[in-house]
Amino acid sequence: MSYFLTDEQLMIRDMVREFSRKFVAVTAMERDLSKEFPAENCEKMAELGLMGMMIPPEYGGSGTDTISYVLALSEIAYSCASTAVVMSVHNSIVCESILRYGSDDQKVRYLKSLASGEMIGAFAMTEPQAGSDPVSQKTSAVKDGEYYVLNGTKRFITTGKNAGLTIVTAITDSAKKHKGISAFIVVKDTPGLIVGKVEDKMGLRGSDTCDLVFDNCRVHKDDLLGSEGDGFKIAMSALDGGRIGIAAQSVGVAQAALDAAVKYSTQREQFGQTISKFQGLRWMVAEMATEVEAARQLMFSAAAMKDKGVNYTLQASMAKLFASEMVNRVTAKALQMHGGYGFIKEYPVERFYRDARVFTIYEGTSEIQKVVISNHIFNDKRKM
Ligand code: CAA
Repeated sequence: MSYFLTDEQLMIRDMVREFSRKFVAVTAMERDLSKEFPAENCEKMAELGLMGMMIPPEYGGSGTDTISYVLALSEIAYSCASTAVVMSVHNSIVCESILRYGSDDQKVRYLKSLASGEMIGAFAMTEPQAGSDPVSQKTSAVKDGEYYVLNGTKRFITTGKNAGLTIVTAITDSAKKHKGISAFIVVKDTPGLIVGKVEDKMGLRGSDTCDLVFDNCRVHKDDLLGSEGDGFKIAMSALDGGRIGIAAQSVGVAQAALDAAVKYSTQREQFGQTISKFQGLRWMVAEMATEVEAARQLMFSAAAMKDKGVNYTLQASMAKLFASEMVNRVTAKALQMHGGYGFIKEYPVERFYRDARVFTIYEGTSEIQKVVISNHIFNDKRKM
């Protein structure tokens, strides 16, 4: 399973596994009920270097590779998917975008605070009428002297309420379609940035998802990320990394569901023996374990390509598509193996099942991943 991992990668995985199961797991069930944001988990994760994993040490980060990052993220997701999605958006989308497209000044101003956990990052592109089709977004950014004035509403923003910094996309030139979209860094408490409706969700209930309303929100030109018109490219490349993150979350939750099902089946007795002795369940476990492992390998392959510096868009979409569909199958089977106990909150599989549901939806639905994958195949851009 992990024969090619280096000693350092294994050490990071084991360290995060221990932390996750001893600390993060303890509050996961309660957090699902209370919907409390995992601020304390984020603080401890920052102390362990998990909030700036791929940020170089010169900017206060850990400077690890993507393989180490997905190992760590899967371990956090194993215990608490709500905490994992906060870590994922923060590291994969926000830190990576500033690292890749930010000016020297932006890197100095923001990366240290992100890596130290002082600021948690969010990414705001989706709008009420622009989900799968972000080019149709309406939020505008109009230049006014040294500032851009942002107006519009963003929807379904992970960590929107708790973020210290949000990367926001907005239209600077509507005639240019995707080339007229720009990206801005907007910090908390900027006048005109208003936290709107907070959603009551089926799963990932400890992570807030909300509207962000921009009402004449003035953002200094020094906080334009990249150049004017780079916003769509920044978002798409950020989502490539983000999609590997969703694969890692899927692998973590699926492994937790599989382990819970195996444990339960070796304890539960029916017809005079533990239910793990029945071939019907043993074959289910064999299929679940194979699927989790297949998703893990796709996740590693996409992460390894990213680390090599080659284009990994195709592999990221494949990993996201397969892993997110897989975790829905695996959590459903794990719940089934628990019988009636799978349907009640006393056992964690019920939460795993609900948490997994959004994985085939956010950061690009399964249908969008198939668009990306088939475009690569038909345009013969395959890099296998
Ligand atoms: N990296 C860099 N650039 C990319 C790119 C990538 N992966 N994919 C596309 N581009 C560039 C193209 O090169 C092209 O640029 P040029 O015009 O300069 O050549 C430009 O973007 C347009 O490309 P396409 O014609 O392929 O774009 P499209 O309009 O057909 O859309 C899409 C492609 C794949 C459907 C895209 O719109 C998409 O991914 N949609 C889904 C959006 C999404 O994932 N939303 C989730 C919201 S975020 C979220 O969920 C975060 C959270 O909080 C958890």
